[in-house]
Amino acid sequence: MTKTITVLPGDGIGPEVTDSAVRVLDYLFKTFHHDVRFVEERIGGAAIDAEGIPLPQKTVDQCQASDAILLGAVGGPKWDRQSTNVRPEQGLLGIRKALGLFANIRPAKAFASLIDASPLKSFYVEPVDFVIVRELTGGLYFGKPSERRGEHKEQVVDTLAYSEHEIERVVKKAFQMAEKRRKKLTSVDKANVLESSRMWREVVNKVASQYPNVEVNHALVDSTAMQLIINPGQFDVIVTENMFGDILSDEASVITGSLGMLPSASLRTDKLGLYEPVHGSAPDIVGQGKANPLATILSAAFLLRYSLDMDLEAALIETAVQNVLKQGYHTPDLKVSSEHATLVNTVEMTDQVIS
Ligand code: NAI
Ligand code: MG
Repeated sequence: MTKTITVLPGDGIGPEVTDSAVRVLDYLFKTFHHDVRFVEERIGGAAIDAEGIPLPQKTVDQCQASDAILLGAVGGPKWDRQSTNVRPEQGLLGIRKALGLFANIRPAKAFASLIDASPLKSFYVEPVDFVIVRELTGGLYFGKPSERRGEHKEQVVDTLAYSEHEIERVVKKAFQMAEKRRKKLTSVDKANVLESSRMWREVVNKVASQYPNVEVNHALVDSTAMQLIINPGQFDVIVTENMFGDILSDEASVITGSLGMLPSASLRTDKLGLYEPVHGSAPDIVGQGKANPLATILSAAFLLRYSLDMDLEAALIETAVQNVLKQGYHTPDLKVSSEHATLVNTVEMTDQVIS
């Protein structure tokens, strides 16, 4: 049966980097005789320009009907200047919500040739290879009430709310990932203070009985923030609440260096997932061939692994990226110290990955 990937190039360098990832995927599908087709739809500023709204219903329907979604980035100064409340980011939040993508996956992995790009000493960075699973549709960012109160609005409340079901489904995702990796799960919470965290721990312990070969640790979020700097090599899979995950994943993203190298996936219980680079639309370098396509190409590897069950093909992409970096090929954002470093543009970098 034909599989479908919906491509949402979006704005800025989005179309440049999704183009690269589609070329790599297309090459693999042809080589392995996989029947996969690409359908392009609009999101973000591109959709606002064409149709006046950031997330047309046609885009949502097409995404719902596909096996996986590849997204570039949305937003840019052009739409910041427009004095309407129609914003490109509403497209991104809207599609995650419409599809119920509750688990956001962000890896932190050291690339041997880019160790010097990290602000940490290489000794700490070399062993780094972990994944953060962040709950994306509940917790502190969505809990009600969230409002100003009192006669003079001198009080304020935000709510950290979860149901057992919401915790269980994201924790299961994390266990499943740990099973495919080094079988170590760190569940991060603030159970010494928050009732929600105490329930989070109970659910983790309950789910753990279904994954006896995965070693589980509970850790407090403040201490984890510290451990990510002093011993980041200890982690395999980290699972945590929405806001904790937001903060820890930004912290983790600097450990291994460049924004142009970081892929992400947003998943739900079935195989459908949305895959995108962590970076934005980079308006400062748009159209100059300077965009590093590797974050999006690595997101495409995730797409193959998690949505299409093509583990071998995913690993081929990851190995190709490692090799290309080892050979010294780099876009301007990557600081490499090797003497045989070769500066390449977006298209040349993609050519190297394919070859
Ligand atoms: P950004 O990630 O677009 O850029 C930050 C810096 O990193 C810039 O100097 C940029 O040139 C560089 N950079 C980013 N990706 C790169 C790549 N692949 N290769 C080489 N260099 C790269 O973040 P910024 O500047 O804060 O936001 C720009 C626009 O992107 C804004 O409109 C923002 O709202 C939007 N944005 C969208 C996101 C998304 O669609 N997921 C995420 C973050 C920002
Ligand atoms: Mg953030």
